[in-house]
Amino acid sequence: MTRIVYVNGNYVPEDEAKISIFDRAFLFADGIYEVTAVLDGKLVDYEPHMERLHRSLRELDMGQPITDAELKEMHEQLMARNNITEGLIYMQITRGVAERDFAYPENAAQTLVAFTQVKELSDPTTARTGIRIITIPDIRWHRRDIKTTGMLAQAMGKEAAKQAGVNDAWMVEEGYVTEGTSNTAFIVLDNNRLITRPLSNAVLPGITRRMILKLAESGAITVEERTFTIDEAKGASEAFLTSASSFVMPVVEIDGVKVGGGQPGPVTRKLREMYLAEARGG
Ligand code: PDD
Repeated sequence: MTRIVYVNGNYVPEDEAKISIFDRAFLFADGIYEVTAVLDGKLVDYEPHMERLHRSLRELDMGQPITDAELKEMHEQLMARNNITEGLIYMQITRGVAERDFAYPENAAQTLVAFTQVKELSDPTTARTGIRIITIPDIRWHRRDIKTTGMLAQAMGKEAAKQAGVNDAWMVEEGYVTEGTSNTAFIVLDNNRLITRPLSNAVLPGITRRMILKLAESGAITVEERTFTIDEAKGASEAFLTSASSFVMPVVEIDGVKVGGGQPGPVTRKLREMYLAEARGG
């Protein structure tokens, strides 16, 4: 099936979409992006995703090619034109097209593209079984708080996980877990204390993370925002990860060590249910 994608103001079949080889995102990864979930034909946490988009643009002195209202309209149009009720919308803004030169060009025409991806989000098998992960060194740059398209370290991490026969990888720096290749890492201690790394330049401020912390507090789960080690994670009562593309995903094995008896735990299950209810109601 051919999707209808968005390229610089036009809705076109995916095989007709074109961008320049001089685009700075292609040459320098000089672009930012967002991935927003679609559930029951509605966007999940759209406003916070746009807030983070604004922040990424600001941090890189990058312009916004169309207004917020037009961005929203683009998301709505893509859902409607592709008849998508569950899945993802990927959007990317680049600094634009200019002769190859490292410093920022003046007045380059920016590129904006977006497309849909159908994906089972509400009840994937992995949410019932949990997933297995490995740990890898975090080899990324020092501004991981900006959602740039420079994702090669993460692609290498996902490939390492695939080669190891597991689902994903968590990255480790100076003995502490930073985050997953494309998700936020959480552990549960003593069956009721939720631990996740505090926000800083070391991690992406996850939109799902933010919602989960709110829901945990409303669900009488204690939240501790602090760094944690891989050994703590291996010995935790539960572990899970969050992202727009997986919501709340139980992690039941880390580097071959079973976590919480190798089954998704009650706190993870409860938070996943709360998140789905919130996403559906919101
Ligand atoms: N990734 N950390 C990293 C490095 C990420 O790439 C992501 C999201 C997250 C979770 O953020 P959020 O809850 O806002 O989705 C954390 C998206 C899904 C992706 O690249 O496909």
